[in-house]
Amino acid sequence: MKNFSYYAPTRVVFGKDAQNQTGELVKQQGCKKVLVHYGSQSAEKSGLLKSICGSLDAAGIAYTTLGGVVPNPRISKVYEGIALCRQEGVDFILAVGGGSVIDSAKAIAYGLAYDGDVWDFYAKKAQASACYPLGAVLTLSAAGSEMSDSSVLTNEDGWLKRGYSSDLSRCRFAIMNPELTYTLPAYQTASGVTDIMMHTMERYFTHEKDTMLTDSLAEGLLRTVMYSGKDALKNPMDYNARAQIMWAGSLSHNGLTGCGTEGDWACHQLEHELGGMFDVAHGAGLAAVWGSWARYVYQEDVSRFVQFAVNVMGCTNDFAHPEKTAVAGIEAMEDYFRNIGMPVSLRELGIEATEEQIRELAYKCSYRDTRTIGGFKKLDREDMETVYLMAR
Ligand code: NZQ
Ligand code: ZN
Repeated sequence: MKNFSYYAPTRVVFGKDAQNQTGELVKQQGCKKVLVHYGSQSAEKSGLLKSICGSLDAAGIAYTTLGGVVPNPRISKVYEGIALCRQEGVDFILAVGGGSVIDSAKAIAYGLAYDGDVWDFYAKKAQASACYPLGAVLTLSAAGSEMSDSSVLTNEDGWLKRGYSSDLSRCRFAIMNPELTYTLPAYQTASGVTDIMMHTMERYFTHEKDTMLTDSLAEGLLRTVMYSGKDALKNPMDYNARAQIMWAGSLSHNGLTGCGTEGDWACHQLEHELGGMFDVAHGAGLAAVWGSWARYVYQEDVSRFVQFAVNVMGCTNDFAHPEKTAVAGIEAMEDYFRNIGMPVSLRELGIEATEEQIRELAYKCSYRDTRTIGGFKKLDREDMETVYLMAR
């Protein structure tokens, strides 16, 4: 087990009607003016936005609003938010939405504390030394941004999707009412379930040994999400299923399931290029590449894939043929993805990629052939191309 530092400073307020505490929670931050940041329509349509504004009014908090964040959030909206906040004297950002809204809020919060172009952080040209405080009212269980140190932005100039991580951007609080996710379309629910699983699996596929507790947490989380995901798809208003998924979403990406291990993260890097170039839902993009990645890398440590097959997917351990068990686990995972309506190839994701586009994806993902990705098996540009081709 590796040495680690675990930091999860976000206050979680979880359960029915939790959003009614927004005003009081913001008040405790001692800020002067709040930016309420949200997406295209869901928060307005459901009445959530109105009730959040009502809660701020009741607590005597001044605020201004900015909606219109799109999935795979854009840098242009972030620039608009920074300008608005400066003009209005905003000193606290409240994200009301899913990962895209929270990530856009994080970027605005970085930008407000920085004289240069906030893209510098995402382009790895600079490190943030400050960030305005922010909080979140979560409406979609998926990205885990409400407790993570990360944010992912898309720059329309070149359609590059890039992430930036720093503890400075951790939410002060996360308000999580599972009922707020009842209105999610089935595809978003399934995409969220996939993303949650992938945040855990990216950490699970490691060469680190002696991680029994971390492995058990990860395996329990994965089984819970798979089970609850099916229930939520069957009955979107199943509170218990929505609650399990929502809490798992935060725990899958706040570092808990990676304590003492070294993560892989290749699938996330491969997906970010798909999101940047083809604007696909993040979780669906992950499902489309995972099986190909797994088949490409499993021989690096067959026993790890056997453990996954048996403890997570419930496969029978064929002791005489560990490779067979490992592959059965990969197939079972793909079956589950199919079962919840997720794609397991680029074509099923809706992308008919040409060979030239595959080359471009790998070129971009390898930062113009200057980096490798992955911890379980290091992938260079050619490996990335192969995995994309296998996923075609
Ligand atoms: O814009 P609105 O109208 O709100 O619609 C959204 C959007 O179209 C809708 N939605 C959200 N809550 C809803 C709802 N519809 C009905 N009822 C509700 N309660 O869902 C759609 C997708 O929303 P989005 O925020 O894009 O989804 P998600 O939470 O999956 O976030 C995806 C983004 O997060 C990034 C991804 O790359 C992607 O850009 N990630 C962020 C991470 C982080 N910050 O730690 C880690 C992840 O690995 C991921 O990369
Ligand atoms: Zn993710």
